Amino acid sequence: MLMKNLGISIVAVVILIALPALASVQGYNFFLTVFPYAAFAVFLGGFIYRMVKWWIIPVPFRITTTCGQQKSLPWIKQSPLENPAGFWGVAGRMALEIFLFRSLFRNTSVEISGKRPVYGSAKWLWFFGLVFHWSLLIIVLRHLRFFIEPVAPWIAGLSALDGFFEIGIPALYLSDFAVLAGLSVLFLRRVIIPRVRYISLPVDYFALLLILGIVVTGLLMRHFFSTDLLAVKSIVLGWITLSPVVPAGIGIFFYIHLFLVFTLMVWFPFSKLMHLGGVFLSPTRILANNNRRERHINPWNAPVKVHTYAEYEDEFRDKMKAVGLPVDKE
Ligand code: HEM
Repeated sequence: MLMKNLGISIVAVVILIALPALASVQGYNFFLTVFPYAAFAVFLGGFIYRMVKWWIIPVPFRITTTCGQQKSLPWIKQSPLENPAGFWGVAGRMALEIFLFRSLFRNTSVEISGKRPVYGSAKWLWFFGLVFHWSLLIIVLRHLRFFIEPVAPWIAGLSALDGFFEIGIPALYLSDFAVLAGLSVLFLRRVIIPRVRYISLPVDYFALLLILGIVVTGLLMRHFFSTDLLAVKSIVLGWITLSPVVPAGIGIFFYIHLFLVFTLMVWFPFSKLMHLGGVFLSPTRILANNNRRERHINPWNAPVKVHTYAEYEDEFRDKMKAVGLPVDKE
């Protein structure tokens, strides 16, 4: 199972690397002029489509998978983040979830000791998950230097901070090191732990390997096969001003890097990576628990013809009285 699922995703990524590596000059022209717009359109359209589809699903009542005390009587202490009663509680819960992956922090592990399950805390997934996502965000933010002219001071500041230790020339970014560490742990988790391996599909490995491919080609460009960064900037500004250019002499690693990024953009909206948008529409995270204070009526309730007790009694009063059953109305 592992070999098959992992094998499929490795082959897919190798093909994605081979395509730009073997492309012709016309291919590269196409690549820098048509692909960026197509990939962006699919990404944006797909993202909006998925979000709207989730958005319009009715949620008739508050789904509250909480483990804290609900707001009720004044002398019972409420747990405002576990069981928020209004907007600010939900905002706090969401902020902790998005910036610190709070629910992952509470991840538990179960081991069978003798015949008993023993529950423990497992923070490593939370830690490396956080390291991976934060460093990816920092890398993407640093890339804005290619998209903005003149480069905003905060981007230059972020890059300087990220390369603070000045290891090597050009300086190794801490976020590059961190993203590799995060990716490696997330990948090894799926390969080594039997339970996780059992539920891992080719797409799970593919997501990690695709991002790894982007990171590795980026690192190769930065540290081993330098790329003409002025040419890169002219390409990106060409896209933005809708007058794409194709400068000569851009290294092959740039094309591979870019092709993998485009693939990621096209695949993203239809993949599990949509948790990026989905978390904002997750009912168990975004709904305040006001089930006791407000009546939530299911909007798609069909009109049902009911037969009330009063109507029942009207219909059978004589028969009921005849056998001595008590009736409400004589
Ligand atoms: C998901 C999006 C992307 C990711 C995760 C990513 C990742 C990386 C990483 C990890 C590096 C190594 C150096 C560094 O951290 O700056 C890098 C370098 C680079 N990337 Fe990206 N990249 C992405 C998108 C892009 C795009 C859209 C472009 C160009 C339009 C681009 C162009 C470059 C170039 C030119 C370098 C070399 C930078 C240098 O020599 O300092 N990347 N990328």
